[in-house]
Amino acid sequence: MTDKNANQMWGGRFAEGPDAIMEAINASIGFDQRLAAQDIAGSRAHAAMLAAQGIISNSDAEAIREGLLTILSEIEQGRFTFSTALEDIHMNVEARLKEVIGEPAGRLHTGRSRNDQVATDFRLWVRDQADAAIEGLKALMCALLVQAGTGAEWVMPGFTHLQTAQPVTWGHHMMAYVEMFGRDLSRFTDARARMNESPLGAAALAGTSFPIDRHMTAEALGFARPCANSLDAVSDRDFALEFLAASSICAMHLSRFAEELVIWSSAQFRFVALSDRFSTGSSIMPQKKNPDAAELIRAKIGRIFGANVALMTVMKGLPLAYSKDMQEDKEQVFDAADNLMLALAAMTGMVGDMQANVPVLEAAAGAGFSTATDLADWLVRVLGMPFRDAHHVTGSLVAVAEGKGCDLPELSLADMQAVEPRITEEVFGVLGVHNSVASRVSYGGTAPEQVKQQVAAWQERLS
Ligand code: ARG
Repeated sequence: MTDKNANQMWGGRFAEGPDAIMEAINASIGFDQRLAAQDIAGSRAHAAMLAAQGIISNSDAEAIREGLLTILSEIEQGRFTFSTALEDIHMNVEARLKEVIGEPAGRLHTGRSRNDQVATDFRLWVRDQADAAIEGLKALMCALLVQAGTGAEWVMPGFTHLQTAQPVTWGHHMMAYVEMFGRDLSRFTDARARMNESPLGAAALAGTSFPIDRHMTAEALGFARPCANSLDAVSDRDFALEFLAASSICAMHLSRFAEELVIWSSAQFRFVALSDRFSTGSSIMPQKKNPDAAELIRAKIGRIFGANVALMTVMKGLPLAYSKDMQEDKEQVFDAADNLMLALAAMTGMVGDMQANVPVLEAAAGAGFSTATDLADWLVRVLGMPFRDAHHVTGSLVAVAEGKGCDLPELSLADMQAVEPRITEEVFGVLGVHNSVASRVSYGGTAPEQVKQQVAAWQERLS
């Protein structure tokens, strides 16, 4: 005799209902209700296909369709009561369908299983998030392109080891991030194309004996094709892992830019002013304007990469096909996606608002002997010195300037000739920061003309 507390969906062979602890550890409805819209879309496609194949009647399919639409609006309007006893979104929707339409509800699950259902729902959800990431990245790149176009000629220090290295242009620095986010965008695009296969109809693991049409449901759900192997279809989560990997790399890029904004907006640097809209104050220090959005973006990589590690670890070593371990696939992906989209939007807002402090950037660009390489290159080009010797001579000149407490352009010709007699007045032409950046015309270099070409090329690609 089946206990009256036993599960309505699978309790036929059970004499007792589950322990409260069993119910608590087993239920996923607390989080997988986020898959409601995808679950209902999958069920609609499945029911329409069952009718088209003559597996259920048209009138049952129509009742199922209308019932599902009713349930969707109940959920959207917050009028749906989710039940832990019904475990997950799939059984919550199906049980409610029974209440709404009665007997035909029981025919919906023909030729499918919760295993292909959840794999389908989750793919649809992750696919939407890949699309959202692509849109978010495009918006951020457009904001960066505006900065780069406006500041293609502004000079600033370029750093290696966070020590002054050579002058670069503001536009060039912004375009470095456009390249990074452009690769992130292509990673989401690639992952999206690979994940775009339908698990629906793989059933529990082996396929089904019903004459289903998996191509029809795949097409209805916007998938390129059905997954070709039913065991694989229900048991891999690599599509979510690829999304998390792409998200982690993107979050890493965001964290680097965020870190630069934190440094640049400090009183010691003053390279940029962040807008009030993306800053906060201190409750004790009235003078403070803190770059909290940048700091939080810098931190998001922690939970996003954490999600990647968590899901990889859940999946490691699982035998084929479905195991309940896989129910642990969702929460971290939800959290990672939410936080990635938030970080992209916040960064886009900050970049759109931020004001470069052009005079400060220019003064900093010339400090720290930043044109020493230009001087060495001049010695090579004009005096025909081997680069290693030119490097040595320039090093001596830097030491002289350091001793005098001045920068290279402030040395006199006599100071220079005391180190290398063949140096002429002409050398001063390469010591200025604007000449320095203008000379770096090699492909991908920092010269304003190169930067403007890159801006134009990306504008074209993104339009
Ligand atoms: N809630 C489950 C999950 O998220 C759905 C699949 C359950 N399948 C099963 N055979 N118990 O993975």
